[in-house]
Amino acid sequence: MSATPAPTPAPEILAAFDAAKGFMPVDEGLALYAAAVAAGRAGLPLLEVGTYCGRSTVLLADAARSAGVAALTVDHHRGSEEQQPGWDYHDPETVDPEIGLMDTLPAFRRTLFRAGLEEHVVALVGRSPQIAAVWNSPLGLVFIDGGHTDEHASADYEGWAPHVAEGGLLVIHDVFPEPEDEFTGQAPYRVYLRALASGAFEEISVTGSLRVLRRTRAGI
Ligand SMILES: C[S@@+](CC[C@H](N)C(=O)[O-])C[C@H]1O[C@@H](n2cnc3c(N)ncnc32)[C@H](O)[C@@H]1O
Repeated sequence: MSATPAPTPAPEILAAFDAAKGFMPVDEGLALYAAAVAAGRAGLPLLEVGTYCGRSTVLLADAARSAGVAALTVDHHRGSEEQQPGWDYHDPETVDPEIGLMDTLPAFRRTLFRAGLEEHVVALVGRSPQIAAVWNSPLGLVFIDGGHTDEHASADYEGWAPHVAEGGLLVIHDVFPEPEDEFTGQAPYRVYLRALASGAFEEISVTGSLRVLRRTRAGI
């Protein structure tokens, strides 16, 4: 008996993902897409923390469109610590010259427009903990790819993981178990360990630095 092949996005969606600024390699994007398609079957929204310029959002949005649910994406659009001027992940094109601060919202909107996915995405612009504090409904999938300090990664986990529905998926990006492999710190790895240690999540896949966990019982 042959295994069912993982769902893959249409070529134009993959092209939009590829064309968008961002940091996610294709293999991790495909794993995220497969998780989003699976999670979408529950009929609940899919939520991402860390929009940046919409690279991963394209994949969540396409999966959400197929499932007839919404994709939600949270970002203050001012960039993470490592994306600020002078740091390795800074892109000068993301700076708004009028105010001299990063603003990735225009690039994100262009990405979605070009992918034809605008109407499937709700962009939540603001700080993740503030938005999580007023959020009160179950989610089929939460994808954590926001700030990479312990403060931000823990706040994302504590703010959003409680909303992952029973059987829903928690996806964590930039999980680097080996300190020498880290690019942006090991806070996501610590969050991943915490989720497993809680007993509320089980691991279902590992692709590069992307981990997909499933909720097996209540709690975080
Ligand atoms: C690594 S990037 C996201 C990359 C994106 N998922 C992709 O595939 O290209 C992290 C993003 O998280 C956002 N961010 C960091 N801390 C945040 C916070 N506390 N609240 C909201 N957004 C935050 C940054 O502005 C940045 O755009």
